[in-house]
Amino acid sequence: MQNDKPLKLAIAGLGTVGIGVVNVIQSYGEILSARGGRGLEIIAVCARDKTKNRDCDLSQYDWYDDAVIMAKNSDADIFIELVGGSEGIAKNSVETALNSGKHVVTANKALIAHHGFKLAQLAEKNNVCLTYEAAVAGGIPVIKTIREGLSANKISSLHGILNGTCNYIMTVMRETGRKFDDVLDEAQQLGYAEADPSFDIDGIDAAHKLAILASLAFGTKIDFDNVYIEGIRHITPVDIDFAAELGYKIKLLGMAENTDDGVFQHVHPVMVPINSPIAAVEGVYNAVVTEGDFIGTTVMEGKGAGRGPTASAVIADIIDIAANRQPATFGVPTDQLINKPTLPMEKCTGLYYLRLMVVDKPGVMADITAALRDENVSLEAIIQRRRNPGAPVAVVLTTHETGEAEFCNAMNRIEKLEAISETPRLIRIARFND
Ligand code: HSE
Repeated sequence: MQNDKPLKLAIAGLGTVGIGVVNVIQSYGEILSARGGRGLEIIAVCARDKTKNRDCDLSQYDWYDDAVIMAKNSDADIFIELVGGSEGIAKNSVETALNSGKHVVTANKALIAHHGFKLAQLAEKNNVCLTYEAAVAGGIPVIKTIREGLSANKISSLHGILNGTCNYIMTVMRETGRKFDDVLDEAQQLGYAEADPSFDIDGIDAAHKLAILASLAFGTKIDFDNVYIEGIRHITPVDIDFAAELGYKIKLLGMAENTDDGVFQHVHPVMVPINSPIAAVEGVYNAVVTEGDFIGTTVMEGKGAGRGPTASAVIADIIDIAANRQPATFGVPTDQLINKPTLPMEKCTGLYYLRLMVVDKPGVMADITAALRDENVSLEAIIQRRRNPGAPVAVVLTTHETGEAEFCNAMNRIEKLEAISETPRLIRIARFND
């Protein structure tokens, strides 16, 4: 049913995504109002610098320099937060907007990961909604899919490529043999990376997104602080080549599993089988794979960053609100979210790849395998590439299923051996084949 009153929007943040949202609304107004059942009208915008050239006509909107004042004083129905960052302006303006009875749409994964539970309570108290489709996996409608499309299922686990910058870097490194730093510069120039690129390459951005997905998928209270996080700085062409030799590609994955005792949530590089769907996801693309009890496996893939995909997700949230589809922030009311602990990494089990630089002399391998034997770690394969008597050579070990704690104990012992010339490199191997 059509509502004659347009839905009034105030947009805070006029960077890549903010201008993308304005562009879509300016050019697709009629289609969007048909889909939402009412017109969409931008009434106010806000950014730090009014004089900046944004290649976009903003003259008909009220201008604010301060997002908190816009959140409070503007007559908008929805406050759209595209400022970013978990604290400061973003948090203050979202709290103000919710307290002023405005719905909030945000692309801010850091804000939701750190403060999502409290903000969801605030949204409930004020009888408005807080939605964040654009916060996870850019244009892929993964939030809506998990929250609504898969709502009949118990989701037991999920994993995904949640950071386009890292996936782009790993793809280019593998395809060209180039080094990490060189490719990172390129990703920044292409506009994929966060303002602070360490959020991308150290796995923090992916961890924000994983914590959000885990909460939604498992109905648990969001717990970002206990996500285990490793980034991709230490991935070298040597490991990428060994991975290929063993039939794998290396991807930075976010992985979450719901168990009786608690939730596993980790972000780290993983060797994935070359023929798995996730291995085919390259460049800036993201993907999310879920395991549900009725549906089985679902795979969602799409562009995870950039103006168009992120604006697409922001607009989808706006249209839902326009059409009165106004979900609970994490799928269920906050008092029904389960308080389950995040389990420590040491409790994990899995398959492991370990690459050592080892001085090539008799007896070294016996010392290495003794450490593994003492920790009850069963080896699957050992590869030594070249002979180089008296000098370091790369030796790779892969294991059968083993405990993380046992494996790390063995690795720490191996690292102390005199013949080990560099820090050993551990990369976990995926167990899934789908
Ligand atoms: N820096 C993020 C990425 C952007 O590379 O995926 C989208 O959150």
